Amino acid sequence: MHKNDIDLHTSLRDFVNFAATLQPSNAGTFHADEQTLLETMCATLSKHPSAFDGNSTSHPSLAIVETYLPQLLGTMSDPTTRSTVESLTRHLNWYQIYDKATIDQSLAEGMFAAHVLGTRGLIKSTSLFLGLFLLGPGVHYPLHYHAAQEFYHVLSGEIAIQQGLRNEFKTLSEGMTSMTLPNRIHALETRDHPCLIMFLWTGDISGKNWWLSHLEEDLWQKDCWERQNSGVWMNTERVTLRESDLATLET
Ligand SMILES: [Fe+2]
Repeated sequence: MHKNDIDLHTSLRDFVNFAATLQPSNAGTFHADEQTLLETMCATLSKHPSAFDGNSTSHPSLAIVETYLPQLLGTMSDPTTRSTVESLTRHLNWYQIYDKATIDQSLAEGMFAAHVLGTRGLIKSTSLFLGLFLLGPGVHYPLHYHAAQEFYHVLSGEIAIQQGLRNEFKTLSEGMTSMTLPNRIHALETRDHPCLIMFLWTGDISGKNWWLSHLEEDLWQKDCWERQNSGVWMNTERVTLRESDLATLET
């Protein structure tokens, strides 16, 4: 194997291993099958360096990722995790999650992801997404819900997360985790600084992502976002509903 491939393999193994050892701190636990899948992936990567179909191809990087990533990596306090993430990021294919033509430009241009495991990952997976999520400063990702279970581990910076329709935002800093169960309302905010998160999406990862907006009093609107084959998210449906209709989606 080429040295770059060995480095990539080592980073991949260490990153997946790191994910497999984390546990949510607030609610829920990993499903047994998620844990098993990650542990199997670790064991496979440990025994068979060629088990991944990734390569050392360099991808065109995004200016905003290049702007924030060095500072986010530079402030990570755990040198081992920083080293793993830093060497992995060189091989990842970063993409802007939402197109600015479909949502508010500042929101679209503030959220980026890179799959380690996933449909766009170094290791192809359609059963879970494991990767990095980078948010610029001043991002407000509105209240939304989806069928996938969402685990976040903050690698660098801070993120505020609201779970439930009217609950307070809670701030997560480096090393802190959150678990959002399937079909539970949540929102995200960054303040003055960017944030780097390890995310794990499991369960129904292909489903719809419903964004909520408050119209008046107990009247809400929800917009459905669906990922097209091209990878672009499109707004495919809009429904008006009463707040009582959202009761089952509360944490
Ligand atoms: Fe979410």
